This record gives sequence, structure tokens and C-alpha cells, in this order.
Amino acid sequence: MPVKAQIPESSSQIKLKKIQERLNYKSVIQNMNTCVIITDERRIIYLNDAAIKTLGYSRRSLVGKDLTSLFPVYEKKSFTISDFLAIRDKTMPRNELDFVTKDKRVMPIGFTVTPFYDSKTKSSASIIIFRDLTEIKKMENYMRQTDRLAILSQITAGLAHEIKNPLAGIKISAQVLEEGMKEGDPSCQLTARIVKEIDRIDNLLKRFFNFAKPSEPHFADYNIEAVIDGLYLLLAHQFKNSKVSFEKDFSKRAPRVFVDENQIEQVLMNVFLNAIQAMPEGGIISVRADTNVIYEKDGKGLDGSRIMGTMDGGVPVVYVEIKDTGSGISMENLEKIFTPFFSTKKEGTGLGLSICRQLMLKNNGDIDIKNNEGRGAVVVITLPAALN
Ligand SMILES: Nc1ncnc2c1ncn2[C@@H]1O[C@H](COP(=O)(O)OP(=O)(O)OP(=O)(O)O)[C@@H](O)[C@H]1O
Ligand SMILES: [Mg+2]
Repeated sequence: MPVKAQIPESSSQIKLKKIQERLNYKSVIQNMNTCVIITDERRIIYLNDAAIKTLGYSRRSLVGKDLTSLFPVYEKKSFTISDFLAIRDKTMPRNELDFVTKDKRVMPIGFTVTPFYDSKTKSSASIIIFRDLTEIKKMENYMRQTDRLAILSQITAGLAHEIKNPLAGIKISAQVLEEGMKEGDPSCQLTARIVKEIDRIDNLLKRFFNFAKPSEPHFADYNIEAVIDGLYLLLAHQFKNSKVSFEKDFSKRAPRVFVDENQIEQVLMNVFLNAIQAMPEGGIISVRADTNVIYEKDGKGLDGSRIMGTMDGGVPVVYVEIKDTGSGISMENLEKIFTPFFSTKKEGTGLGLSICRQLMLKNNGDIDIKNNEGRGAVVVITLPAALN
């Protein structure tokens, strides 16, 4: 009988086999960056580290829990993995669900579900792989707003120009009429009203114009604390009248910033006014500034030591946080507030924050707003550090 010749395994194949035998797949899943949840029909039986980190709850509080408790939007339904699959196939083409985090933030989650039969326990189970879509959604939202802004800019620039000229004519005519009237003539009140309302429209048009065509920034180095101090002096009267007190905590490590001072002042002014308006009964505005930069030598950034890098690996920036003790912003409105013309105020144009974002991006920075943990809102402005 002929003996089949055995092809000897190469040494690299043997090595690979040994590694495969030794490889602990559970530890691979446990440590990978992708978020993984394994469930039986409806309960969570396993979560890897990335899933725990993203969801923000402890492993103990999630294992054994019903999936329904993770996605309360579907609370009323009897929720099983087949529902999950149904959602995927029918109502949610992009496989998305909202998750409510521990700090009550709605986190959009993108997921895929792979059902499998576990022959060991003789039961069906599912692997859910998911990711936090917050940043992607934010970017999508921002892109939509920028599109709207671009169209709006073109329309408003033309329109503002067309309205301004006849308006100036009406204002002058009203003033001439007023001059011809005798003192105490009741019609004076009417002409004064005409002039006042025209000034209001004129003011609105100026904002439109500014919004439609913001000037190019003139960059220079500024001490942001000095800029805020100057602005506070300008608004001191308003702060006092509105019973709002002002607190300041600036890190000595914060470097100077490289921006257009006027434009940043305009942003801060809008933010301060919003904060004051959110506190009709008075309150506190606290401004804090810090930085991510690392300095050479003593690392303190005093005496002009050079910036060597950043703690988070990003570009060197200064963060300015403006916190108020006002009404805060409802979850529903939070994603709309940077949309042009969105306002909850009777007299608001709803352009304040969209102008702020536009100016911040022109200045290589950013602006974001969220609710403060205790009460009120907190605006975070990111400014590029001036490099020495
Ligand atoms: N600090 C804050 N606290 C609570 N709500 C805020 C705060 N800042 C902004 N908002 C909300 O965001 C909305 C949009 O603000 P934005 O500055 O763009 O417009 P506005 O203040 O309404 O009008 P305008 O700035 O033209 O006077 C506001 O109407 C308000 O509902
Ligand atoms: Mg405003």
C-alpha cells in the first residue's frame, strides 16, 4: 500500500499555529477599540471595555440588564433582539438609536447586530457592535447649517442693500416733518416713533450685513484676559442693572491668543448678553480660562517660556468657559441654537450664536454650548494660542 507523503509544515506555519492556540480571543474582544455588547434574547451578558467607556455606566450596573433600560425610547415595547433587527431593517435604515447617558445626555448610536446560536448553552444570542455618533452628527448638523448660511448670505447681502436706501429716505423725511412741528405737538410722538423703529430696522440690517459678509480677520497676539476685562468695563452698567455679578478665574499658564480682537470681542459680547438675558432675576457669570499647552523648562509658562507641545496632542489653544446660572437650554433646543434665526426670545433675531460660530471658525477657533451640571448654560470658546 502506498504511503501518503506528509508535507512537512514550515516553521512559520508552526509558529502561527502556536500563536493561534495561545491567543485568548476574549481578551482580544475585551481590549479592542470597537464597542461590543453580547446579549441573549434581551439581557446584556457581556460588554467590552470600549462599550463600558462609551456608555459611561459601570459594568456591574449593565450586565444582566434588559436592553430596554439602555434605550428607553422603546421602553413601552417588549424589546428583544428581533425588535433590534426589525428596527434595523425597517424604520432605521442607518441603524441608529438614542442612548441616554448617565448625565442625561442623548447620545446617538450607530449599530449592527449579528445573531448567532451558542451551541454551548443551546440558546440564541446576538453581538451588537456600536459606536458613538455624537461627533459625526455634530459635523453633519454643522455642514447643513453652513449650507444654509451660504445661501442666506447671498440673499441677505442683496436685500439689506435694497432696503437700506429707502429706509434712509423715510428717516430723513420724518426728521424734516418733526422739525416743522411746534413743540408739544402730539404728532411729534409719531415722528419720533417712526425714527425709533427705523433705527431698529437699521440695526437689524447691520447685523444681517455683518452676518452675510463678515470682514476678513486681522490677526495679532492678544492677552485674552485683558480683552475680557475691557469688555466687562463696557458692559458693567448692564451687569449691574440686571443684578448679575461677574467672577473670573484665569490660569496663569494661559498663553496669548492669535486672533482678530474686534471679532472675538463681538463673540464674547453676544455670549455675555445671552447669559444676562437667560437670568432675568439676576445671577452669576463666571469666566474661566485654561490651556492645553506645555512649556519648556519650568513648564509654567511664566516669564515667556516657549511652548513645547500640548497635553492632548492637539493644536495649542486657550479655552475660555463662560458659565451662567440662568435657565439653561432644553434638550430639544440644544441642537438648534446655532441655526440662523432660531430664537426663543420675543425680540431676538436668532443670529447671535450663528454669527459667533462663523467668526470663531474664521479665527481658527470654535464655540460650543452645553448645559451646566448644576444649573444654567456653559459656553466654551476655543482660541488658537499665539506661538512664540
Ligand atoms: N446662556 C444661555 N442660556 C440659555 N439659553 C441660551 C443661552 N445662550 C443662547 N441661548 C438660547 O439660544 C437661542 C439662540 O441664541 P442667539 O444668540 O443665536 O439668538 P438670540 O439671543 O435669541 O437673538 P439675538 O442674539 O439676535 O438677540 C436663544 O434664543 C436662547 O434660547
Ligand atoms: Mg443672542
